[in-house]
Amino acid sequence: MDPQPETHGQPGRAHEREFVRMWDELEPIGRDRSTGGYHRYAWSDADLLLREWFAGEAAARGLELTDDGNGNQLAWPADAELAGRGDAVLVGSHLDSVPDGGAYDGPLGVVSAFAALDLLAERGVRLDRPVVVAGFSDEEGSRFGIACAGSRLLTGSLAPDAALGMRDRDGLSLAEVLSARGRDLAAVRPRPDILDRVSAFVELHVEQGRGLADMDAAVGVASAIWPHGRFRLDFTGEANHAGTTLMQDRRDPMLAFAAAVLAADEHAREAGARATFGRVEVLPGGTNAIPSSVRAWLDARAPDEASLVALVEAITLQARGMSRRDGTGLDVTPESVSAAVSFDTALRDAAAALLGGAPVLPTGAGHDAGVLSQHGVPTGMLFVRNPTGVSHSPYEHADPDDCLAGVRALADVLAHLAAA
Ligand code: GLV
Ligand code: MN
Ligand code: MN
Repeated sequence: MDPQPETHGQPGRAHEREFVRMWDELEPIGRDRSTGGYHRYAWSDADLLLREWFAGEAAARGLELTDDGNGNQLAWPADAELAGRGDAVLVGSHLDSVPDGGAYDGPLGVVSAFAALDLLAERGVRLDRPVVVAGFSDEEGSRFGIACAGSRLLTGSLAPDAALGMRDRDGLSLAEVLSARGRDLAAVRPRPDILDRVSAFVELHVEQGRGLADMDAAVGVASAIWPHGRFRLDFTGEANHAGTTLMQDRRDPMLAFAAAVLAADEHAREAGARATFGRVEVLPGGTNAIPSSVRAWLDARAPDEASLVALVEAITLQARGMSRRDGTGLDVTPESVSAAVSFDTALRDAAAALLGGAPVLPTGAGHDAGVLSQHGVPTGMLFVRNPTGVSHSPYEHADPDDCLAGVRALADVLAHLAAA
């Protein structure tokens, strides 16, 4: 569970020492010492520290830090002629986390991007195109509910008004949170002017399954992202006494919710898909009271879009059957739905070849790379082996040697993309 890569007794080259230094600096930020997990939510104190850290890394490399107004941090080469070429190669990931998340999901991609720049400098590689390190804002959507909010705002697939109206668990809107942080709400908007200057995006990420471990490979290349979505299910009923209300007199919304949970498991297994209820809110929340409402979030993912639609329909149909029996209500609201992504085939094939025939594999996890790819930016992803496949958990892990293999792979891909 220790997320700190070691250098295995070797003094290490500069980029390796930098990798370890950066990892050490990030290690305490937003970490819950009792679980070992991270709580790094958008615009929280931890997130601000992470943004400062990013700014420091950019400055240390002489990069020019910009913010796109949506909270996405972009570190450009200071050479104005190079930066102004209009064919920048973006590389990076995100620093925020899910509740009690692991150290690697996101930060590995950002740290590796900076370390890959260090390695390219060590190798004396001349970059003809500007390489820009990106730290995307609020990728996990853990606070406001919408995944990849930063990259969606940048590309225009999330409307500023809709984003600013999103509310966190305390009822604070994004607009209120940004204002309290002194940010300009008018700057929250799509930025085609920035995207027009980008010719490619590469995101390195810890693998969130056992694909590479099973293939005995340290690094792989992504082919596609499954279509997936988050759906809010609001079950409504009637609060009443747990001891005196006859079973047949109840309007208990928990039962339709339970039916939805079991249906999710059943239908996802049948379809070779995934369906998860990981968050639920019960009101009024008394042990001795029938709930008046249950709000739950379904995370559903499938190999293709038709299967995803069918999966969500089958789950809601079964839940509605139970709510009809009980006289309870059910509303289903899609909160963020992402279409299937196929990454740029030229980039994918070039990366796999550069990495000596690295495995090419799809993923069920969502990424900013998917959002940029949907927008038409030629995009690729590299995965670093995760020995257990565990992710979104403090037990998420990648071995130190594999992390450094990831940095070398990323540097190779960047050298290829940034050549004239
Ligand atoms: C992001 O990690 C997601 O797939 O939920
Ligand atoms: Mn994640
Ligand atoms: Mn991620």
